[in-house]
Amino acid sequence: MSDAKPVLELRNVDKSFGPIEVLNDISLKVGAGEVLCLLGDNGAGKSTLIKLMSGVHQPTRGDILMDGAPITFASPRDAQERGIATVHQFGGTYPLMSVGRNFFMGSEPTKGFGPFKVFDRKRANSIAVAEVQKMGITRITDGDRLVGGLSGGERQSLAIARAVYFGARVLILDEPTAALGVKQAAHVLRIVNQAKRRGLAVIFITHQVMHAMAVGDHFAVLIRGAVASDFRKGEKTREQIADLMAGGESMVELEANIDGYMETHGGHPPPPAH
Ligand SMILES: Nc1ncnc2c1ncn2[C@@H]1O[C@H](COP(=O)(O)OP(=O)(O)OP(=O)(O)O)[C@@H](O)[C@H]1O
Ligand SMILES: [Mg+2]
Repeated sequence: MSDAKPVLELRNVDKSFGPIEVLNDISLKVGAGEVLCLLGDNGAGKSTLIKLMSGVHQPTRGDILMDGAPITFASPRDAQERGIATVHQFGGTYPLMSVGRNFFMGSEPTKGFGPFKVFDRKRANSIAVAEVQKMGITRITDGDRLVGGLSGGERQSLAIARAVYFGARVLILDEPTAALGVKQAAHVLRIVNQAKRRGLAVIFITHQVMHAMAVGDHFAVLIRGAVASDFRKGEKTREQIADLMAGGESMVELEANIDGYMETHGGHPPPPAH
C-alpha cells in the first residue's frame, strides 16, 4: 500500500457479548486497491469482525477509522451509505426477482411524474446488464431474467457489480467461495481481482488457503478472537498458512497420523477428539 491513509482500519478493537469475549485487541487495515484476507477456523471471530465493519455490531473497546478518521457505524444502513458493501454467501439477492430489479433494489430509476411515476424497467435492465458484463459475466444479456436461475457465482457477481455501481469503497465478502465448485470459485476470485483493480478495498473471508493466496495482498489469521499472524503476500507458504489456521498443529503431521491410524484400524479414520 502507498502512503495514502487506509480506507478502513480497526485499532485495538475488542468485542464482547456480555461476559463472552469474542474479539480481543484486533488491529487491521485495508487500503484502496488492496485485498485483505481474513483466515481462521470455525468460531474464530471472522463474521463478528465483519459485523463490526458493517455496522451490525459496535466494538466494546477500540476504534474504527475510515480514511484515517474515527467513525461510528450506527447501523448497517449507515455503514452502507458510507460506502461499505457487505456481500453474504448468497449475495443478498432475491431469487424471484429479475436481474434489473435486484440490481436497483431500494433505489429504482423511475420515469414520469407524480402518480404516473413508474419503475423504468428498460433503463434498469440495460444498466444492470452492462454493469454485470463489466464484471466479466457475459452470459447475462437479459435484465428480465430471474435471479433464481443464475448460478451462485453469477449471483455473487451481480451483488458485487451492484456494490461497485452504487459507489462502494469497501467490499466485504464473507466466505463467498465456500459453497461453490472449482470453476465458480475461480470466477468469484477473478471478480475480487477486478474489484481490486477498480480501486476498491476488499476484505475477503475464507477457510480455503488456496483461494486466499490467489487474491490476497495481505493476510490475517484469527485464532480464538485474536490476530495470531499478520503477513503480506509471499511471506508464507501454503503449508505455513494451513498450519497457522490449524492453531499451530502441523497439518502434515495430522494427515500422517490419520493415515497411520487408518492402516492399523482396517481403514477407519480415528474418532474425533474431545
Ligand atoms: N451475538 C453473539 N452472542 C454471543 N456469542 C456470539 C455472538 N455472535 C458470535 N458469538 C460467538 O463468537 C464466536 C465467534 O463467532 P463468529 O461467527 O464470528 O466466528 P467465525 O470465525 O465467523 O466462524 P465460522 O468460520 O464458523 O463462520 C463464536 O464462539 C460465537 O458463538
Ligand atoms: Mg463466519
